[in-house]
Amino acid sequence: MRVGILGGTFDPVHVGHVALARAALTELNIEKLLVLPNGAPQYKRPRTDPADRLAMACMAMGTINRVEVSDMEILRGGATYAVDTLRILKSAHPDTDYVYIIGLDSLKNLSHWKDAETLKRLCTFACAAREGQVPHQPGVQILRTSIPDISSARIRQMVQSGQNADAFMPQNVARYVAERGLYLSDFSESTLRKELRQRLTPHRYAHTLGVAETAAELARENGLCAGKALVAGLLHDCAKCLSPEELLQYAGPAGADADEMRCLPVLHAPVGAYLAREQYGVQDEEVLSAIRRHTVGEKKMSLLDAIVYVADFIEPGRKPFPGLEDARRTAHQDVFRAAALCGRLTGSYAAQGGGRLHPATARMIQWIENGGR
Ligand SMILES: [Fe+2]
Ligand SMILES: [Fe+2]
Repeated sequence: MRVGILGGTFDPVHVGHVALARAALTELNIEKLLVLPNGAPQYKRPRTDPADRLAMACMAMGTINRVEVSDMEILRGGATYAVDTLRILKSAHPDTDYVYIIGLDSLKNLSHWKDAETLKRLCTFACAAREGQVPHQPGVQILRTSIPDISSARIRQMVQSGQNADAFMPQNVARYVAERGLYLSDFSESTLRKELRQRLTPHRYAHTLGVAETAAELARENGLCAGKALVAGLLHDCAKCLSPEELLQYAGPAGADADEMRCLPVLHAPVGAYLAREQYGVQDEEVLSAIRRHTVGEKKMSLLDAIVYVADFIEPGRKPFPGLEDARRTAHQDVFRAAALCGRLTGSYAAQGGGRLHPATARMIQWIENGGR
């Protein structure tokens, strides 16, 4: 039996990977193609969790005839070396001939791979390349099918900066990326959660998770992809546990306006947007705007702004108070009307303590009541 191996980080898997898999099945005379998402690649820090990369690889290639997506490298954990994988496969299937499909750059660096000489004894290689790109080498087969020139790095950069990269991914993978908010920050979801758990008090962290889940739910109900709402929800209070001194120190660079500077409890919103950009790598202006506006709102707020503002108010962990259930019901009917209602409830609460409605909240309520959205 002859089996091809297509390994990779698949962060994310893209149309080039799919074309490569199909070319391998057509040209390499193999019975089966084993697709192996890496566990922990030696030189790269993946931007998504292994489970996400495995899920995307399955979506993109799991339904192609004669392709098997394997979790063996992900489950093995630790650094991923081709020679270790080949040793395991050969000891389980000694009669199988393996063809390892690699990129041109990897082929040129093959001598630097771990135990390269052993690896060469355990498998042959195939590489997608144009005529003349690869000097003839024994044991290396060249795939002639032309493969789209796209990289996972380029897709990650496009998604992070708010550009549409859907054309470079299989449709179901693009949807998965948007739904889960992958590549919107510099971190995988599990790392982002870990960072926030360290930065916030347990109460604030639980509230954060409640806001993220509620915002994602409201986004879906309103026809938006949940990912941006999820990430904005996770990061909305990232500056909430800073000291007043720290908040004031960041207020200038964060571009806090006069209204925000006058009110310390409001300052964590612009500072949070600033930290989301500077420390978490968020570049998407819609996500940053939702973080900035989550505390007091503003006129002309976007649907995502309104969703995060309302989610902050109604998340399931909120202690009951008069009007909360009404706000929750309204949120699932009309999120802007719910935002106005939450604004008015905040005003009533402030009035009880002798305070008054924040000017931005007053502008938001008036804008919504005048039909703005
Ligand atoms: Fe907040
Ligand atoms: Fe909050």
